[in-house]
Amino acid sequence: SGLNFSVLLGSLRKSSLNAAVARALPDLAPPGITITPLGSIGEFPHYNTDVQDEGFPAPVLAMARQIAASDGVIIVTPEYNYSMPGVLKNAIDWLSRVSPQPFVGKPVAIETASPGLIGGARAQYHLRQSLVFLDAFVLNKPEAMIGQATQKIDPESLQLTDVGTREFLTRQISALAALAKRVRE
Ligand code: FNR
Repeated sequence: SGLNFSVLLGSLRKSSLNAAVARALPDLAPPGITITPLGSIGEFPHYNTDVQDEGFPAPVLAMARQIAASDGVIIVTPEYNYSMPGVLKNAIDWLSRVSPQPFVGKPVAIETASPGLIGGARAQYHLRQSLVFLDAFVLNKPEAMIGQATQKIDPESLQLTDVGTREFLTRQISALAALAKRVRE
C-alpha cells in the first residue's frame, strides 16, 4: 500500500523560501506517495508547562495526531543564527510532551533552504540533535540543503523552479520512503 508523509514548516513568513519548497513537495513525490502539509506552528502558544497542565492546545493535539497517523515527516525549515528558528523548537517542545509522543520511531527527513551558500546546514544538526531525544528515525542521506535559494525559487510566483533541486528532492523523498518501508516491516 502507499505511504503518506506530512510536512512540518519552520517559517511563518508569507513569502517564505522554505514554504515554497514545502509547497513543491506533493508534486515531487514518486508514485504511491502522498504528501500533506501539517497546520501552522504559528498557532502554538509559547511552551509553558503551566499551560500544558491546563490541557494541551487544540492545534498541538491536532498536529500530534496527524504526525502519528503519517508514515513519515518532512521538516522544511530556515536556519536562524546557525540553529533552527525558535518557533520550530517551540513546536517540537510542545509535540514532545504529547502522549503517546508522535515522533517515536517516526521516519523524518530534513530540508533547509537559505539565500546563503551553506543552505541551512548548521540548523540541520541542531534539529537532528533534538530529534535524537524524541527517538525519531532521521534519514541520514541524502541531505537536502538548498543554498542560494533565491535563485531557485521564482520571486513572483514563489514556485521552486530549479530543475536540479526538484530532482534532488524527489530522490530524498524516495530515500525516506525506503526508510519508512523498513520501519514498517
Ligand atoms: C536569518 N538568516 C540566516 N540564514 C542562514 O543561512 N543562516 C543563518 O544563521 C541565518 N540566520 C538568520 C536569523 C534570523 C533571525 C533571520 C530573520 C534570518 C536568513 C534566512 O535564511 C532568510 O531570511 C530566509 O529567507 C528565511 O527563510 P524563509 O522564511 O524565507 O523560509
